[in-house]
Amino acid sequence: MTAFKGRLRLGVNIDHVATVRNARGSAYPDPLRAAKLAEQAGADGITAHLREDRRHIADADIAALRKNLSVPLNFEMAATEEMQRIAMTHLPHAVCLVPEKREERTTEGGLDVARDDNRLGQFIAPLREAGCRVSMFIAADRAQVEASARIGASVVELHTGAYCDLHYEGKLKERDAELARLRDMAALADSLGLEVHAGHGLTYETVQPIAAFPEVMELNIGHFLIGEAIFVGLEAAIARMRTEMDAARA
Ligand code: PXP
Repeated sequence: MTAFKGRLRLGVNIDHVATVRNARGSAYPDPLRAAKLAEQAGADGITAHLREDRRHIADADIAALRKNLSVPLNFEMAATEEMQRIAMTHLPHAVCLVPEKREERTTEGGLDVARDDNRLGQFIAPLREAGCRVSMFIAADRAQVEASARIGASVVELHTGAYCDLHYEGKLKERDAELARLRDMAALADSLGLEVHAGHGLTYETVQPIAAFPEVMELNIGHFLIGEAIFVGLEAAIARMRTEMDAARA
């Protein structure tokens, strides 16, 4: 029997509800409404990324989510002074630091904690002291895991984007090699006392091998679920994802 660390939580990322809203500059669809529905459907947390260019989630969304959710809010942000001020204002349950480039379509690659460890260590200190669970969004790379432990992060979120891309490109040997790296880095992070999360690009088809890692405690999934909601509704999409995750742990 595999010794799982605990029940695998599902964090639902509602950024792309805001993407649809912002496409027309309207007041709908409302990310808070999606978050409440996700909560009812069994999401263990809500994730939202306030990007520097505000292309989806807006400042007012973060305030509304913080005020109205009963599950934890995982606030994704770049390590900038502006975002730190916003995080310190709202004090979300969790802060996940992500790299951010204006020209990217989505978060490409992980944070380079190893190269920026001094600055990031100082950056996360006030957030930790304020009681936020601080997480580093990193690639499956030993130096990044070790640096995250060294600077005092509580969590690493392993970037599953490369694994998912390789799966859908049909590069199965490379996909399996990336999966092995993710598995090894989940074990390393756990051995260093870090809580292990994972996310990016996950779908019904790709979630199970990641959910089966015994150290993984939380998956954060957004784009696929919001897309699937167009066809089956958000509650059904979340319920099916939950079933896939549970099957992987059975
Ligand atoms: N985790 C992190 C840190 C992310 O930046 C994102 C995307 O915003 C996700 C998880 C969710 O990725 P996806 O929307 O591809 O499921």
